[in-house]
Amino acid sequence: MHRRDRGTPGWGLADLPDLRGRRVVVTGADAGIGFQMSRMLAGRGATVVLACRDLPLARQAAGRIRADIAAAGRHPVADIRVQHLDLAALASVHAAAEQIRAEHPALDLLINNAGVMRPTESTTEDGFDRTLGVNYLGRFALTGLLLDRLLVSPGSRVIVLSSLAHHVGRIDPVGLAAGCPPFGPASVSGSTGRRQYPASKLAMLMFAFELQRRLAAVGASTIAVAAHPGVARTGLARELPAVMRAFMTDQMSPVMSWLIHSAQAGALAPLRAAVDPTARGGEYYGPDGLFGATGAPAFARAGRAARDRAGQRLLWAESERVTGVRYLLRPATVPPSTADLM
Ligand SMILES: NC(=O)c1ccc[n+]([C@@H]2O[C@H](COP(=O)([O-])OP(=O)(O)OC[C@H]3O[C@@H](n4cnc5c(N)ncnc54)[C@H](OP(=O)(O)O)[C@@H]3O)[C@@H](O)[C@H]2O)c1
Repeated sequence: MHRRDRGTPGWGLADLPDLRGRRVVVTGADAGIGFQMSRMLAGRGATVVLACRDLPLARQAAGRIRADIAAAGRHPVADIRVQHLDLAALASVHAAAEQIRAEHPALDLLINNAGVMRPTESTTEDGFDRTLGVNYLGRFALTGLLLDRLLVSPGSRVIVLSSLAHHVGRIDPVGLAAGCPPFGPASVSGSTGRRQYPASKLAMLMFAFELQRRLAAVGASTIAVAAHPGVARTGLARELPAVMRAFMTDQMSPVMSWLIHSAQAGALAPLRAAVDPTARGGEYYGPDGLFGATGAPAFARAGRAARDRAGQRLLWAESERVTGVRYLLRPATVPPSTADLM
């Protein structure tokens, strides 16, 4: 990661640039941080595709965003679209990517936001551990399937949401290669999430760094930037044990504000990663307050395991193998070979 400074202090909504003409896909956009990001991006004029597994919820979210923008008197014809996407099923990821590709010859931003923490179902449709499948493998596949649409758009970005939890995550690429479950028998006994959530967030950070290196290696202007929201009051809390959930309620927010902020505040770090013109590929943003839980977006510290290049390469190879999605990254400046011309 580039260590320039802590980033411009106090970066906030007022720093969001005009985004008219920019085409954005946000996964898990019907709630929480994804909804807030979509609202703010559309509010600056971007065309936003809300890629969600629950279409009625996605349509409701689109309606709320349109009403919000109209009420503020900004870009009253906000272009907000909905797209079905279930990251827990590779067939759905393929179908969604196909439809997005058909509608958008070029994309400027892909925000890999959707995630689960302790889902009740233990596996995905493809038999992967569910937390790992939704939070990592589904996102890996979606990004690979949309990458050519991003590559044709100068300065486009892939944004990856990670978490402070990545610091305690462990990745076992050998287990991953074995298909499912990647982290031992616990994941089939319904306890997916306890270890898998941190692991999936570590995997996403490793993915972002490896993707950035691969993009740079072929001279692409597309960059990969990671971010985490700190600790934000969102629907994710419903998956926490009751005792922890109690601290996340609105009633508790005045006393917990040093540790837990709103979904809107949590959206700022990923938003900065997405639109700050000074952001560079391979950077990682998060709140700058105590423990990185709340505060204004600044550079965040990635754990040592996240920066392990050998691990990143192994994970990448295994992810291509188990998802069947291969990233076709060719040098932009290499002239076609004779074979290509025949
Ligand atoms: N909140 C925090 O403190 C915090 C901290 C660190 C990282 N994060 C990360 O921030 C991201 C957003 O989470 P959030 O806090 O905003 O939680 P949230 O309110 O629960 O939102 C999660 C979103 O992901 C969607 N999703 C879940 N499973 C999906 C699937 N199989 N396919 C497609 N979409 C799916 C959800 O859709 P449904 O409405 O259909 O369930 C929802 O739109 C996640 O990656 C999370 O890990 C959050």
